[in-house]
Amino acid sequence: MDALKHGSNPENLAGMEGKDGYSFVRGDITDADLMGRLVSEADMVVNFAAESHVDRSITDARPFMESNIMGVFVLLEAARKHDKRLVHISTDEVFGSLESGSASEDDVLNPSSPYSSSKASAELLVRSYVTTYGIKARITRCTNNYGPRQSAEKLIPKVIKHAMDGKKIPVYGTGKNVRDWIHVDDHCSGILKVMSDGRDGQSYNISTGNELDNLVIIRKILGIMGKPEDLIEFVGDRPGHDFRYSLDSSKMRGMGWRPGTGIDDGLARAVKWYAGNPAWWKAEDGWN
Ligand SMILES: NC(=O)c1ccc[n+]([C@@H]2O[C@H](COP(=O)([O-])OP(=O)(O)OC[C@H]3O[C@@H](n4cnc5c(N)ncnc54)[C@H](O)[C@@H]3O)[C@@H](O)[C@H]2O)c1
Repeated sequence: MDALKHGSNPENLAGMEGKDGYSFVRGDITDADLMGRLVSEADMVVNFAAESHVDRSITDARPFMESNIMGVFVLLEAARKHDKRLVHISTDEVFGSLESGSASEDDVLNPSSPYSSSKASAELLVRSYVTTYGIKARITRCTNNYGPRQSAEKLIPKVIKHAMDGKKIPVYGTGKNVRDWIHVDDHCSGILKVMSDGRDGQSYNISTGNELDNLVIIRKILGIMGKPEDLIEFVGDRPGHDFRYSLDSSKMRGMGWRPGTGIDDGLARAVKWYAGNPAWWKAEDGWN
């Protein structure tokens, strides 16, 4: 189920209904009646729903608090009432900016933006429901995703889209901010691993170790696309911009999970997908 808000593109659901037991419900996770009904019918609940864009959280934080905190509260109440397991999808941003080293699962949460604070709040709520009510819940945290079908408000599709159109590519500050990039397929395989082999009451960090600054990523994409680097345009930095995120994923690796996509191969595949699917772009443009 999904509210089809920011980040959604209805094209992603085309032709899915009825396939492999899939069915879609449009709705909001803050709707307690709907969530009660859907959760009661589920074997397990995996919660991806969130307002996810840091810039939007800075200009208007309220929807982030509603979906990312109140929505999780509603889901937790439903999971408690119907005794269902919840896998909650969180983010490396809950640890805030790290000068060195990598955050492990039990490190202190230290978020910087309204977005990351709302995600950290959700984690604390999940933990409190495990401790207080004994609900069955697990948390996954992942680094920056990329791959097909990602909204152009995120860095990599934005760069590809601007480069395809020959438009300037805005880069915050010096472009030296570091993120650890993971292909969406690897994030999914990590979540499946936690669903099958994880333990309730535990958190799991999912990361590849592909730590690269934004300029390196942008130059790689321009190189793959054969586009000039003078498309890059430096713009004023984002307020409170975290310099570096990094997760220690040794717990997941100890469970046998490994990422399967290298960054160069993953970026080349992403560029190919966006270049080959202009109709998808048009649908997204119409939607957002
Ligand atoms: N994209 C990343 O790099 C990344 C990294 C780590 C964690 N995450 C987490 O993964 C999850 C998915 O992220 P994404 O990048 O696909 O985000 P996205 O913004 O592309 O998609 C979020 C989806 O949540 C839906 N949604 C928002 N509020 C809702 C509500 N109240 N009820 C129902 N649906 C609602 C939107 O309609 C949208 O389809 C989020 O929880 C995010 O915090 C993302």
